[in-house]
Amino acid sequence: MKYLFPEGLILVRVSRRTAIRAILASLAVGLTLPWILAADYYESRRKLRKPTGETVVENGRILLPPPTLKGEISLEEAMANRRSLREYLDEPITLEELSQLLWAAYGITEIRWGFKTTPSAGATYPLIVYAVLAPRGVAVPGGYLASGSYRYDPHTHSLGLVRRGDLSGDLYEAGLRQEWIRDAPLNLVFTAIYERTTDYYGSRGVRYVHMEVGHAGQNVYLQATALGLGTVAVGAFHDDQVARIIGASPREKPLYIMPVGRPVKPYRLSREELADYIASHRG
Ligand SMILES: Cc1cc2nc3c(=O)[nH]c(=O)nc-3n(C[C@H](O)[C@H](O)[C@H](O)COP(=O)(O)O)c2cc1C
Repeated sequence: MKYLFPEGLILVRVSRRTAIRAILASLAVGLTLPWILAADYYESRRKLRKPTGETVVENGRILLPPPTLKGEISLEEAMANRRSLREYLDEPITLEELSQLLWAAYGITEIRWGFKTTPSAGATYPLIVYAVLAPRGVAVPGGYLASGSYRYDPHTHSLGLVRRGDLSGDLYEAGLRQEWIRDAPLNLVFTAIYERTTDYYGSRGVRYVHMEVGHAGQNVYLQATALGLGTVAVGAFHDDQVARIIGASPREKPLYIMPVGRPVKPYRLSREELADYIASHRG
């Protein structure tokens, strides 16, 4: 075998058969390697979107993990154990819990038209849901989500930051100093753009909007109960102040604040207690 060294390039003189083998081998590597690398790249992108416990932030949006459709307790237990709970432990909720609560509040359940967990008159969907996170309110692997007000987008199941910072104190003041607002790691705030519904139904649409926020609020109550969390529907607050604090647009009117936290004392009702109550009221 003879070695040549023209201008730094190493050439090897080999037999014809070896040369053909070498050409075929390089062709095989050259053709398959890009596919292997591309498959690896797309697999890693896919993993990013899987609920691996990692928080995915894309273009400034928090991409929430997909909601689960199976819970720990039955619907009947959730209804029996639902109570307005106003005292919370000084503990964060998890990103999975936040995701589940938002989905229950106004998430997608029908993928052709984008219908939601709540019924809506004429499917006009006048509501907007905000998540107001307290500092250390929502735990994620390695830390917490930044405190502030975030607007929920049901279609991408994601949150977009509207106002950054600790808004709990301001929200507490706007909410007539109800301590559960100040102490909760999370406050969900529902606003409505009435025109979305009244443009179709005239003044009757106003009552439809109020009915709808009731449906959404009950969904949050039941989902919170199913997750072992506590909440309360708060209707007493200064509308303009709440709208300003969360960064709502002028067309939006706030309707509910729902503080959520891990309850100091969860509520439980047994079947026997309920049966005794009914029996005693029958005389
Ligand atoms: C429209 C509406 C407004 C409410 N506003 C408040 C409120 O501002 N503050 C509060 O602590 N609870 C509020 N609540 C919760 C009620 O006090 C509570 O539902 C009631 O006492 C019955 O208790 P339960 O929810 O445990 O069944 C409100 C409930 C509704 C439906």
